[in-house]
Amino acid sequence: MRPTQAAFPATRLRRTRQTSAIRALVAENTLSPADLIWPVFVRDGEGVEEPVPSMPGVLRRSIDRVVEAAREAADLGIPAICLFPYTSAENRTADCAEAWNPENLSNRATRAIKAAVPGIAVMTDVALDPYSDTGHDGFVVDGEIVNDATVEALVKQALSQAEAGVDIIGPSDMMDGRVGAIRTALEAHGHHNVMIMSYAAKYASAFYGPFRDAVGASSALKGDKKTYQMNPANSDEALRLIERDLREGADMVMVKPGMPYLDICRRARETFGAPTFAYQVSGEYAMIMAAVQNGWIDHERAMLESLMCFKRAGCDGVLSYFAPDAARLLARG
Ligand code: PBG
Repeated sequence: MRPTQAAFPATRLRRTRQTSAIRALVAENTLSPADLIWPVFVRDGEGVEEPVPSMPGVLRRSIDRVVEAAREAADLGIPAICLFPYTSAENRTADCAEAWNPENLSNRATRAIKAAVPGIAVMTDVALDPYSDTGHDGFVVDGEIVNDATVEALVKQALSQAEAGVDIIGPSDMMDGRVGAIRTALEAHGHHNVMIMSYAAKYASAFYGPFRDAVGASSALKGDKKTYQMNPANSDEALRLIERDLREGADMVMVKPGMPYLDICRRARETFGAPTFAYQVSGEYAMIMAAVQNGWIDHERAMLESLMCFKRAGCDGVLSYFAPDAARLLARG
């Protein structure tokens, strides 16, 4: 007897999940090495690769090893590498002068990469925290993180990075007006092709802990960053920050951290349509790797799923410590 109309589902959504070929055919999003930016920690010395204990698999590398890493990334199809210097205590001062020293670690690493691997884009961080004795992203006067004096220093830092050959400048400091000030200075000094990826919506997050270990800032940091980084309770404010930074001349914007803020990624992309990136930060990486090391989740599947969610949320790409492993895995198909 023929089943009645109601006896079977009119729409069988499972039909398009039957085989991997059909699943690939109807996939709404894809992840490729071209979506990834790889954050790398730079330290002094030569031939040095030093593990970061709170980030299993992540290394601090001397400049020669960073160049090798950049070459490997380029071969894997990763378009950009992002440099973070590990600064020793003697280079952390109240005036933060090391931040705009043309010979600082970040600038030397940039020149070495641009000379050896011209095809990869170099991104750098603009903020005073690697160079300040307080561990804050700005100058501290009478307990206050002062905005405008900090912006003047950030402009000097950004210009020294542009002189070294950086392609993308990433202000991560959350001071007001810094994108406009940096853009104006870049134009005035002939660096009109240097891009700005603003850390526009950067939250005061518990997930930065392992990063602060990696760059040697944990012991330096006094207090918290809540007077300049965003309150995790807010979402409209993120849109106001992104709108402001785009108006001031940012070419690309970032939401940070990543996985706890996918709603912000989605709203940002839909509201502005500008190139939008997420930073899957150190604590997100550490959290996944801790579960992997305990045998609680599968490394490869968790890694790719955690990256795909950014594409689904509307991001153009993602900064991730998984970048080289993920790119290798994607290359295997
Ligand atoms: C510094 C900076 C931080 C990160 C990137 N740039 C830390 C902070 O704001 O304290 C965090 C990255 C990560 O956790 O992976 N301005």
